[in-house]
Amino acid sequence: MLQTLSVFFLLAALAKNLVGASPQKVILSSRVAPLGKSLKRRALSPSNIPLADFFKGTDLQWFGNITVGTPPQDVTVVFDTGSSTLEFASAYCFSVGTLCSTCASQIQFDSSSSSTFVDGGRTSTITFATGVGVDPVVGDNYQLHLRSATDTVSVGGLSSPNVSLFLITEQTPTFDIDPFSGIQGMGARAQGFFAALIAGGLPSLFGLFLTPLSVGNAELTIGGIDETNFSGNLTFASQVGTGAAWELSSPGISVNGKTTSLLDTQRTIIFDSGTSNVLFDTDTAEAMYALISPDIQPNPAEPGTYGIACDLIPTLPADIDITFTSQQGTPFNLTIPSNELSVGPFASNSSLCQTLINAFDGLELVGGSLLKHYYSVWDVGNQRMGFAAI
Ligand SMILES: *[C@@H]1O[C@H](CO)[C@@H](O)[C@H](O)[C@H]1NC(C)=O
Ligand SMILES: *[C@@H]1O[C@H](CO)[C@@H](O)[C@H](O)[C@H]1NC(C)=O
Ligand SMILES: *[C@@H]1O[C@H](CO)[C@@H](O)[C@H](O)[C@H]1NC(C)=O
Ligand SMILES: *[C@@H]1O[C@H](CO)[C@@H](O)[C@H](O)[C@H]1NC(C)=O
Ligand SMILES: *[C@@H]1O[C@H](CO)[C@@H](O)[C@H](O)[C@H]1NC(C)=O
Ligand SMILES: *[C@@H]1O[C@H](CO)[C@@H](O)[C@H](O)[C@H]1NC(C)=O
Repeated sequence: MLQTLSVFFLLAALAKNLVGASPQKVILSSRVAPLGKSLKRRALSPSNIPLADFFKGTDLQWFGNITVGTPPQDVTVVFDTGSSTLEFASAYCFSVGTLCSTCASQIQFDSSSSSTFVDGGRTSTITFATGVGVDPVVGDNYQLHLRSATDTVSVGGLSSPNVSLFLITEQTPTFDIDPFSGIQGMGARAQGFFAALIAGGLPSLFGLFLTPLSVGNAELTIGGIDETNFSGNLTFASQVGTGAAWELSSPGISVNGKTTSLLDTQRTIIFDSGTSNVLFDTDTAEAMYALISPDIQPNPAEPGTYGIACDLIPTLPADIDITFTSQQGTPFNLTIPSNELSVGPFASNSSLCQTLINAFDGLELVGGSLLKHYYSVWDVGNQRMGFAAI
């Protein structure tokens, strides 16, 4: 999920409600207590975290468990390379204000049961440019209200004390279908638990194996690469973004082996593991669709989306080759195969299927529908991304 905007503001009334949120009692837990200081004295080993696939007609997002607090509470999060912070539903998600949802369908972290929880008192709003499913983001329809805090966070058994995090105090209803409680940002600048683990000796990279539901066994390797998940060589390309987004420079795109002057142009493409969306500028999206079928047309019922009669899709070739350049200067393609073209029927017309690419001017981005065809390496320390065929 690509974070677009983060506005910090103070909500006096909410702050008043939360006074006393930091508990005074001390609960000892042998699972968490001993790790803190010893972390810094020895290098840490990589750890594998199994991921489940949120599937709704198509593979949408991959999520796994972390624990927060003392004693540890399970919190399920999307590992999202499109954002940078950790935020999850909390027992404070109770106020029905402008965002309308109280996180009722999600497991909520109870900060009053954590002896290591420290309320930060700072409130903020986070707005996303890509959402949960394949529907286009409209205005502020993916937005969270947050409250800052710190607590102990463990991921794959690797634990850090005093990690900066955000409790969701309210969310737009678009998040209600999530089978997970929050988002762990895995942007290109390490933050939170990952930064703390790196400071403690963990290698500063992670590997993602986002597999289709039919394959299963998706996995995040934090601090390393799981060589058992692929056989060929990794090809690395330099990250060109200077901020938190993972971005690679692409000299051109081909569809079904053909290109056009518009497609054969240098562009920067964002890699976002937290979405299944593929977004391109309107003219680029339409140039790509023109090479697939003239029958793919915008669906005015959902601006930004395109569709075609579902029964035409199985026979349509739609191989999208996006070219990148390795650190050795050799071009390589990352390919979204034809079987990703349909993301399922529109709710408004079950015989009209939505096609993969949404038009979104000002953003060019790929997500799970590309990543699940590769093993991907996100090398924070060397500011590069690696891909291996699977
Ligand atoms: C997360 O934890 C719950 C409860 O322990 C478990 O049922 C579930 O399978 C876990 N999910 C993943 C993706 O590991
Ligand atoms: C936790 O981290 C904050 C900065 O993020 C720091 O001000 C504070 O002293 C730390 N608290 C503990 C108990 O380490
Ligand atoms: C990836 O490797 C891990 C072992 O390291 C394994 O548990 C998992 O099943 C593998 N995933 C797939 C899809 O093969
Ligand atoms: C992988 O790299 C090695 C060493 O550079 C090379 O010998 C081998 O042919 C490569 N394998 C593949 C599948 O490209
Ligand atoms: C990338 O794909 C295009 C279109 O299919 C093809 O012409 C080109 O040779 C491919 N490049 C590489 C390096 O495989
Ligand atoms: C639904 O989509 C199909 C396929 O494009 C089209 O033939 C049909 O007219 C559409 N139905 C409505 C009610 O728009």
